[in-house]
Amino acid sequence: MLLYERVAEQLREQIASGALRAGERLPSIRQLAQGHGVSTATAVQACLQLEREGVAQARPRSGYFVRAAAPRLPAARPPRRRAPGTVSNPVLQDVLDMLARRDVLPLHSATPAPALLPQAALGASLSRCLRRQPAAALDYAPPQGLPGLRRLIAQRYAQLGAAVAPDEIVITAGAMEAISLALRTLAEPGDVVLVESPTYHGILQAIASLRLKVLEVPNLPGRGIDVARLESLLAQHCVRAAVLVPNFNNPLGSLTDDAAKQALLDSCARHGTVVIEDDIYGELAWSGQRPSPLRRWDRRGNVISCGSFSKILAPGLRVGWLAGAGWTEALLRAKYFSTVGNASLPQLALEDYLRRHDLERHLRRLRRTLAENVQRLHEAVARHWPAATRACEPQGGLSLWLQLPPGGDGYGLFEAALAEGIGTSPGVLFSSRGDYADCLRLSCGLPWSETLDRALRRLGRLAAQRLR
Ligand SMILES: Cc1ncc(COP(=O)(O)O)c(C=O)c1O
Repeated sequence: MLLYERVAEQLREQIASGALRAGERLPSIRQLAQGHGVSTATAVQACLQLEREGVAQARPRSGYFVRAAAPRLPAARPPRRRAPGTVSNPVLQDVLDMLARRDVLPLHSATPAPALLPQAALGASLSRCLRRQPAAALDYAPPQGLPGLRRLIAQRYAQLGAAVAPDEIVITAGAMEAISLALRTLAEPGDVVLVESPTYHGILQAIASLRLKVLEVPNLPGRGIDVARLESLLAQHCVRAAVLVPNFNNPLGSLTDDAAKQALLDSCARHGTVVIEDDIYGELAWSGQRPSPLRRWDRRGNVISCGSFSKILAPGLRVGWLAGAGWTEALLRAKYFSTVGNASLPQLALEDYLRRHDLERHLRRLRRTLAENVQRLHEAVARHWPAATRACEPQGGLSLWLQLPPGGDGYGLFEAALAEGIGTSPGVLFSSRGDYADCLRLSCGLPWSETLDRALRRLGRLAAQRLR
């Protein structure tokens, strides 16, 4: 056995015996080298070996830690097969009303905490724009949005290999308005729209409010959209549009790979289904490798791409966009009738911020923090929650999706937690008809703290009590 293997073997034994537990720090490289009488290079090799095996995990500037042992969600947990139907989920509105409360620990909110966002720089941009351009800041913006900001967004698409003209972009009040405008423009009441299951509840609510019917395609933990099933659904039903989140589905955090993205684009185009791409989490790939938007491969003008600054800079500025392809004029009319246009000052300030600062630098830090947070959430769940709790292995975004052990009730846990000032999102929120009753979504957008650690312990105890 090589020297480093011997060191790794001893660490493995310590982990197996419980001497080192999930989430605990391994001895430092220096301690390992001294303790085993080996060089630091050998100690590093041992830790790297454990990392390759998935036993340990490196945290920047903190060392190596024992990885969480929470059982992973099985790769496939397809939702029930159903014919197209109306969104019928009575808890949706109730839960959202309860979560509008400001006095809870916001583990329900899939946004980065303010401390993880460049608040000072954005604040400076807002004041500078108001001071230097008061007339423009206080006047109506053009309905399509400010040209400078639209150009910057188009440039970002170009960096990602997607041809999007600034003239095709319409600035909206977040991605949510972009999706609503697209649905309203494309579909009539009674038309069928395909969504992923599970999916973001805002998409389901937009569909319900427009009296559209919904058809669900599975999004599978660790794999993304089930493209074979999508093809068979489109072959059986007349589907007007598909609202898809291929880059880090909310709540699963799963990524649909490039081959599957191209296959689904092909299926949709062949069956006359327009794709409404919701790429709101695309910049939050924890690996740092930004996945491509669907627009990159859209040769037939069949994709309306929606994005937002909500998850990376400031949800409260309410600035998102759509790239409308051949529907741009109709979408622009819909935007005009809906709100005339977006507020001017947030658009000016975002343009100012993007021109003055290195967005990529901020994103690198944010992604690293989110990846660390989710790992710690995993570890806390493994340590404090009932043993058979399963957890997804997200690859990006802001959520961790949990499945409680048999008999677990996500809604009951949500209510019990809320009574103690802890916000969570019950699994039923993410289904058109009340599936995922045994699931719960936690946000990984909160910086790690004692309070958060205590809340996770408390949630674990509540989950265990409710199983008895
Ligand atoms: C998948 C998805 N789409 C859209 C939105 C809405 O984003 P915005 O704040 O840009 O309207 C969210 C917010 O959580 C989301 O998770």
